[in-house]
Amino acid sequence: MKTLNDYIEMYSEKINSTLERYLPENKSDKLDSALRYSIFAGGKRIRPIICLAFCDMVSNDADKALPFACALEMVHTYSLIFDDMPFMDNDSLRRGIPTNHVVFGESTAALAAMGLYGEAFSWIISDGYETGLSDKQIIEGIRILLDASGKNGIVRGQVLDLENKPGLTESEVLNIHNLKTAAMLKASALLGCLAADASDDVFKAAEIYSDNIGLAFQIRDDILDVSGTIEDMGKTLGKDAAEEKTTFVNIYGLDQSQKLVEDYTQKAIEAVKPYDKNGFLQTLAVYLASRNN
Ligand code: IPE
Ligand code: IPE
Ligand code: MG
Ligand code: MG
Ligand code: MG
Repeated sequence: MKTLNDYIEMYSEKINSTLERYLPENKSDKLDSALRYSIFAGGKRIRPIICLAFCDMVSNDADKALPFACALEMVHTYSLIFDDMPFMDNDSLRRGIPTNHVVFGESTAALAAMGLYGEAFSWIISDGYETGLSDKQIIEGIRILLDASGKNGIVRGQVLDLENKPGLTESEVLNIHNLKTAAMLKASALLGCLAADASDDVFKAAEIYSDNIGLAFQIRDDILDVSGTIEDMGKTLGKDAAEEKTTFVNIYGLDQSQKLVEDYTQKAIEAVKPYDKNGFLQTLAVYLASRNN
């Protein structure tokens, strides 16, 4: 029987080789080098893995979702390059190496991020057709990814997070977490379902799974910002406290926050249980709830 790690490795290999094809090495080109620098810096690939896993679960063919999966990783990486910029979180370490703007300068980093964002949609169209996705799937897929990353997704979440200050209520923090993080995890699950032409019931289960996983993921990130190590996380920690942000950790404390991570994870598990034959999505949820990186 395959273990969680076997599945993660199998999906990661597909994702990395497809990203190599989408963004080939071009050492003499500064822009291409800057794009590749962040994409191949060693992210966990959680969003594309979730996308492939839903597609695999429904159709026994993960490959159909590869254009969506790689687009998700490119959009996510664009959001990280921006998140680290001096005008946002001003971070100098990401994925265990110096941030894009530290190496390439702010202008090139911003342009590389925009380059990744554009490539994501361009590859959904060109490779989507190659992979056998229909016009309808491609258009709907683009809409899902635009919504998750746009004005009422990451962008608004990041605006609200920059304004984050002491004394926010739980529901205000939840709103930020939903927009800046859960929206992309939801898009990941939905795009996997879309590529596999899933039934309405599976779409609904995917939505519940990813909404809950998304909140658990960002609360765990806030916990690790306080209790994680820089070696495991590969990014600067202690940022939320330094910037006096309200997070679950300062509303509830570390232990109670972890309890909430586990509660959200349990809800995610219940939602996919009837469909998740090999148990991968359930085991992944458990792993994410106690991740250290
Ligand atoms: C980091 O996401 C940003 C958050 C939403 C907390 P990940 O923890 O998935 O980062 P990578 O992709 O593995 O670097
Ligand atoms: C970032 O949230 C969410 C993004 C959309 C990029 P954070 O600012 O908490 O992420 P990290 O801790 O820098 O990865
Ligand atoms: Mg941030
Ligand atoms: Mg940040
Ligand atoms: Mg964080």
